Amino acid sequence: MPRLVVISNRVAVPSGDGSSRAGGLEVAVRATLKRHSGIWFGWSGRVSETREAASQTIEHDNHSYVVTDLTEEDYQEYYNGFANRVLWPILHYRLDLAEFSRRDLSGYMRVNEHFAAELHKILRPEDMIWVHDYHLIPLAKALRERGHGNKIGFFLHIPLPPPDILTALPNHERLIPALCHYDLVGLQTDNDAANLARYLAHECRLPSRDERTFIAADRTVRIETFPVGIETAEFNRLARRAARSPFVQGVLDSLAGRMMIIGVDRLDYSKGITLRMDAFERFLAEYADWRGKVTYLQITPKSRSTIQEYSQMEREISTTAGRINGNYGEASWTPIRYVNKAHSRSALAGLYRASRAALVTPLRDGMNLVAKEYVAAQDADDPGVLILSRFAGAAVELNAALLVNPYDTETVAAALDRALSMPREERRARHEALYQALTANDIKLWADRFLGALTRPRILPNWLRQVSSG
Ligand code: F6P
Repeated sequence: MPRLVVISNRVAVPSGDGSSRAGGLEVAVRATLKRHSGIWFGWSGRVSETREAASQTIEHDNHSYVVTDLTEEDYQEYYNGFANRVLWPILHYRLDLAEFSRRDLSGYMRVNEHFAAELHKILRPEDMIWVHDYHLIPLAKALRERGHGNKIGFFLHIPLPPPDILTALPNHERLIPALCHYDLVGLQTDNDAANLARYLAHECRLPSRDERTFIAADRTVRIETFPVGIETAEFNRLARRAARSPFVQGVLDSLAGRMMIIGVDRLDYSKGITLRMDAFERFLAEYADWRGKVTYLQITPKSRSTIQEYSQMEREISTTAGRINGNYGEASWTPIRYVNKAHSRSALAGLYRASRAALVTPLRDGMNLVAKEYVAAQDADDPGVLILSRFAGAAVELNAALLVNPYDTETVAAALDRALSMPREERRARHEALYQALTANDIKLWADRFLGALTRPRILPNWLRQVSSG
């Protein structure tokens, strides 16, 4: 097996702190690297005054973590600017929130060039390169320009919208076709893959061999779907242990026999937290018998707080939680417990298992691993109920959940009532189907399928073979 070089903006360098803030990408890459030794390259998470210092290498458990600092300018233009104020909202279908500036785009290109220059020092011709996420779309092009003919794959963890939305991205014609420098582009759902294929076929007018293989300059790029999974059995074991921990027992004691509904999301507008709280309010208003009998715990670690839309949303959510608690709370009962503190994986696993229902209602999400982890954490004999947005990538596999439209607060309120009163037999049957979906597409399979597809030999058309051989 050739050496695997994983590249992403964030790198989860093992720090021994239980990695409490790990998002979906980090969870997936960490699980992949458990089974393939290699290098994980990316941003150190530090912002330094100058970028003179070379990348730093940290050796740990058979892997090398190679990290590089960003300058304040890089951080503002590449990370806060183009990645998170342009690509993030547009790829999540939120054209209204995108704030484009040419300077941010050039900062984004500059950091991609910097990553390529640092990688150029360590790459070997036989390395298998796997680039992750929207921060690094032009990286393969920058590597090819430095002479790297390696197999390079790209996986997008977030959604890819239809061409009508994608073309609203200023300079899309410079950016999106750069994906054709990869050998393989992986997406979370068939819908995302079809959107990209339509863009390449209609916007770029690229010739194709079949619906998902496009011919661009001297290579073919293949588009495939690889829904990201989790370490199902391991997460289930973690939840079983954690449910007995003093922390989870303490939370349960504090509920005084009430049922718990859980929501866990990074503080982000794509997660639909305010609408979810509105739906909970509606539930309390319309299904008044539940008042005083349930507690909704919303765990929401802050993120990207220096971006204006995020700090605005922080205020909006806490105002909403305060309003609902003020209107419906009693001296002895707080309807919503809203917590900004990040919790360890193990604490979350235990809390999932202790919750009768989970509200996972993003307005748009690439996959959403909270939904999968909630299912994996349940006691199969007495499981909780997953209420899942139809706009999360996870809804394709987890269609035995109660699927809802998160914009329709009336339906979400009704789903809550249904989840809390669902008979045990139905809960078991749904959970069995959901758990099966998880085991059928475990994280091991995700990585194996992606790397298998990346290394699979391609048959090039004759004319292209002639062009490539010079
Ligand atoms: O793919 C999106 C993602 O990388 C998630 O995996 C993660 O939860 C989130 O974005 C992290 O965002 P940031 O690196 O900006 O904190």
